[in-house]
Amino acid sequence: MRFENKQVIITGAAGGIGQVLVGLFASEGAKVVAADYHYEGLQNLLPSWQTKGYEVTIEACDLNHKADCEALVQACVDTYGGVDILLNNAGIIPRGNILETTDDMWFSAMNVNLNAVFFLCRAAIPHMQAAGGGAIVNTSSVWGTEPGPNHVAYCTAKGALACLTRNLGVDHAPDNIRVNAVCPNEVNTPMIRTGFERRGLDPDEAVAQLNQSVPIGRIAEPEDIADVIAFLASDAARYMCGALVPVTGAKPVYG
Ligand SMILES: NC(=O)c1ccc[n+]([C@@H]2O[C@H](COP(=O)([O-])OP(=O)(O)OC[C@H]3O[C@@H](n4cnc5c(N)ncnc54)[C@H](O)[C@@H]3O)[C@@H](O)[C@H]2O)c1
Repeated sequence: MRFENKQVIITGAAGGIGQVLVGLFASEGAKVVAADYHYEGLQNLLPSWQTKGYEVTIEACDLNHKADCEALVQACVDTYGGVDILLNNAGIIPRGNILETTDDMWFSAMNVNLNAVFFLCRAAIPHMQAAGGGAIVNTSSVWGTEPGPNHVAYCTAKGALACLTRNLGVDHAPDNIRVNAVCPNEVNTPMIRTGFERRGLDPDEAVAQLNQSVPIGRIAEPEDIADVIAFLASDAARYMCGALVPVTGAKPVYG
């Protein structure tokens, strides 16, 4: 029970990795605020969490808006009394090179993947300071540290998120607030599966093909990423601050 009575905010909680994070943290004793733009998705998941006796409340939240980010932190404080752990997991992946990237694609990538993390951290850190410490785990990407092709808005936002993580890791280590990030390569979630569908491909076949490009033999499942996030949020990672942890099955961005 690594997270007994810890007050935890998880964004993107209705998504592939997010819903696994909610189950994992709640199963280890956390009190979770599960937030997503896709509120119906959270409503559909809630009964399965309640059946297991997990302490989870769901919150609708559009990370495009500063007010929603700040309200989310306040909701955790009002519901559970504070914020011990913040998991900035939500993300969107606009696809295209610069000529294919509209203003909307650019600004929404920055809003959801970067600005929301800034607003959430700025609102949560005073509560962690008051409690004597805390942990923040951001989900960047290997495409943030080594940009992949034709995703200029996504890679730029994830790169800035990696830099934000390192900044906060340094600035708040003296507060006993550890800020780290995971940097996954491909993960078998709706994020990549819908991309295949949009291109007219069968997602199962496309994933099977993609598996062959990974030295360990398969792309990641959400659990592979959630386990590393949980480690970084736990006391086992008590000396890790500002780390960017690649979780890739040894697949490089460029082979
Ligand atoms: N799947 C991959 O291959 C992969 C690779 C590297 C990094 N990542 C990162 O992992 C994280 C989780 O992604 P996933 O693969 O589970 O994707 P996903 O699409 O399954 O989940 C993302 C969730 O974020 C939510 N979200 C999107 N916009 C939002 C907004 N404006 N406000 C609130 N919530 C919003 C979505 O509703 C969704 O539930 C993301 O940050 C993503 O960039 C994923």
